[in-house]
Amino acid sequence: MDRIAITGGAALQGTIPIYGAKNSALKLQAASLLAAQPLMLENMPDLADTRFMAQLLASLGVEITWIKETRTLRMAAGEIGSTIAPYDQVRKMRASFNVLGPLLARVGHATVSLPGGCAIGARPVDLHLKAFEAMGADIVIEQGYVKAAALRGLKGAEIEFPFVSVGATEHAMLAAALAHGDTVLRNVAREPEIVDLAECLNAMGARIEGAGESEIRIKGVTSLSGATHRVVADRIEAGTFAAAVGAAGGDVLLEGARAEHLGAMIAVLQQAGVAVEAEAKGLRVKRDGGRLKAVDFDTAPFPGFPTDLQAQVMAMLCFADGQSRIKETIFENRFMHAPELARLGAQIAVHGNEAVVTGVERLIGAPVMATDLRASVSLVIAGLAAQGETIVNRVYHLDRGL
Ligand code: EPZ
Repeated sequence: MDRIAITGGAALQGTIPIYGAKNSALKLQAASLLAAQPLMLENMPDLADTRFMAQLLASLGVEITWIKETRTLRMAAGEIGSTIAPYDQVRKMRASFNVLGPLLARVGHATVSLPGGCAIGARPVDLHLKAFEAMGADIVIEQGYVKAAALRGLKGAEIEFPFVSVGATEHAMLAAALAHGDTVLRNVAREPEIVDLAECLNAMGARIEGAGESEIRIKGVTSLSGATHRVVADRIEAGTFAAAVGAAGGDVLLEGARAEHLGAMIAVLQQAGVAVEAEAKGLRVKRDGGRLKAVDFDTAPFPGFPTDLQAQVMAMLCFADGQSRIKETIFENRFMHAPELARLGAQIAVHGNEAVVTGVERLIGAPVMATDLRASVSLVIAGLAAQGETIVNRVYHLDRGL
């Protein structure tokens, strides 16, 4: 798919099933490397990124079966045939880096390309590597590759992260599950995806406590077994549709979405004048006429406002009455959608990590260019609520995750 043409102005109606979270699924897929028996993931999102991860796992020797009817991915890592994740694969999708910890824990060595930066920021992996070193791994970086070895196995360790990182928390959990002895991880991320990973690993026989809190305790076990796990509903996908309803108006049921995973987002929607109600089947989001109100928010690790919803809510607030102030605290370059939104007539002033959005009564459709996954969908949201036709170019970013 190369571009999307949107004729804006219609209110959104209907029911949308929310599938498993991409950012959880990718780490759960990596967890399949830890056991010889199959890991079955239900409610799998079928996206470019999760397909790509499946291909990488297949190249390492994992047998992959996609059961379309039940959206279940079966991964059987009976034998690991390769411990190398080449540059071409990690460059295309950063989450490929997550095979390093499981390979190290299961086989005792791995060679994985360093991911490098991406459009939204530098995104180093130093915290991941420090955690493995604390668990006794020898790490060298050579010609762009991380070469890691722990030939007699990883050892449990006490690790205090200097700041919260979702990826480093998950990666350390994956490795520590099979380490000798106990691991304590402090100042960890508390995202629902962390809880999901812990639940899946525990179903495989791991002994992990404290996921969802700021300290996680892991008792290493000698082997893990197969399991069946349902991937947690994607809170970012749900929040994205909610922002679209906020911008365009309408009444949509987000089936499977969980209010407890979207607290900060729901608070912003409600302040803006969008109604959100929890129902038995999910979350209903409604807006019927009337101008949105301006809202100020900062992105922050969970339970704060997710950086992965910042662009979508910025698009919504372009229509609000008054000035909204948005501070991005997680990534250094995550306002690339602002100049594209301006092409539709939005008034956004960016100063460093702060954006001030002065709401306008209407946006007018125009050609725009997507720069990353969440930025792309913010342009779709603006297009849905704008007058006339918006053409979003470079939508391959969108195929990655929604
Ligand atoms: C995950 O990235 C998500 N990706 C991101 O989603 C999400 O934006 C981010 O968490 C924050 O919620 C996946 O799960 C695949 P971090 P991650 O480690 O784990 C710095 C999307 O759109 N840092 O919590 O890479 C880092 O540069 C994507 O779906 C280090 O300095 O995020 C950032 O400033 C985008 N050293 C901050 O920490 C490290 O070793 C938080 O990053 C690790 C991170």
